[in-house]
Amino acid sequence: MEAAERVMEPAERVMERCRRIALCTDESGFITRTFLSPAMREVHALIRDWMEQAGMSVRVDAAGNIRGTRAARDPAAPRVMLGSHLDTVPRAGAFDGVLGVVMAIELAGTLDPAPAFHLEVAGFSEEEGVRFGAPFLGSLALVGGLDDELLDRSDAAGTRVVQAIRHFGLDPAQLPEARLDDRAVAYFEFHIEQGPVLDRLGLPLGVVEGIAGQSRFTVEFEGQANHAGTTPMNLRRDALAGAAEWILAVEREAAGCPGLTATVGQIEVRPGAGNVIAGSASASLDVRHPDDAVRGGAVGRLLACAAQVGSRRGLSMSHQLRSAHDTVLMSESLKRMLDDAVRDSGFKTHRMFSGAGHDAMILARRVPSAMLFLRSPGGISHHPEETVRVEDIAAALIAGGRFLEILGERGV
Ligand code: HGY
Ligand code: MN
Ligand code: MN
Repeated sequence: MEAAERVMEPAERVMERCRRIALCTDESGFITRTFLSPAMREVHALIRDWMEQAGMSVRVDAAGNIRGTRAARDPAAPRVMLGSHLDTVPRAGAFDGVLGVVMAIELAGTLDPAPAFHLEVAGFSEEEGVRFGAPFLGSLALVGGLDDELLDRSDAAGTRVVQAIRHFGLDPAQLPEARLDDRAVAYFEFHIEQGPVLDRLGLPLGVVEGIAGQSRFTVEFEGQANHAGTTPMNLRRDALAGAAEWILAVEREAAGCPGLTATVGQIEVRPGAGNVIAGSASASLDVRHPDDAVRGGAVGRLLACAAQVGSRRGLSMSHQLRSAHDTVLMSESLKRMLDDAVRDSGFKTHRMFSGAGHDAMILARRVPSAMLFLRSPGGISHHPEETVRVEDIAAALIAGGRFLEILGERGV
């Protein structure tokens, strides 16, 4: 494919830049980058450089999003937003989020000197929700959703979001300036699929129909810490054994409901010694389904199950909602344009739902949004073996460039 050959060099540059960003980490030997951590400052230096090379003016907004703009010839022209996130889960792969930002910068650099619309690329500061337990802190700032309750959230060290913003050298009072202006007309995000679908179908690209809703909780079991050697089994109130029984019930519930995922990925046990019966166990709960009613029903059953396990075992149980986001459908007109762009570029288009959350589900509150998935070889993500094929990056760059042309021709 002549076009694909033409973009192999940019595709290789994108791959190389993602690998370079992967070296910016809070945890040596792994890829771990959380909200406004020191590693994010290193990432900003690289992204700023690449954005300026692409002819963009660059700023960092008060939520720590780095934002580059290729201005249109007409100051009153509409604004098209591209972007993704720069933070990661702990011990992540090199492409989740970062790929979308680096590809958007690559695309911005190919536009003619004075594009018909302002093209802005955002590298969001926090999408995963690792440090403060609340996802999308970066993109929420663009839609006015980074509210006082979120700004007041504390991390494990007791630092609040608003303090983390100040520690990074930013001014929370400037948050209103982070909001999208009224000229913003669309948001487009490249992202790895993070699942097995495209790989199994042998397809490089997928057009995202919508993004599944998600609920995130902390569930606490409180029992009685006691001596492991002297406390008879029938006299225990073991918080970890209770949590373990509930976690297996979570897995059974999800396995029995098509399309539902329910995950306990984190557990904290106190006092946390091998010769002490656990007095308390605090578990995360992540529940997702494309149908919000099904997700809500599952959440109700899982929390009721935790209460039953607790009362049967003489444990107190409490839960705290950390975040909830309903399912969001991508813009019908943008999806059709993306289908056309993928086909015009010589590739088969494939519509699919996203089980992973994305910043597009936040931007969609304000502007029509669309996402283009790139195949995840082996279907693995949130893992160091997460990867992407350079020829799929080439395919996505061609399709993304064609999408912007169609957007310019047809308008949103
Ligand atoms: O967890 C997710 O859905 C995404 O990786 N933020
Ligand atoms: Mn992720
Ligand atoms: Mn992501």
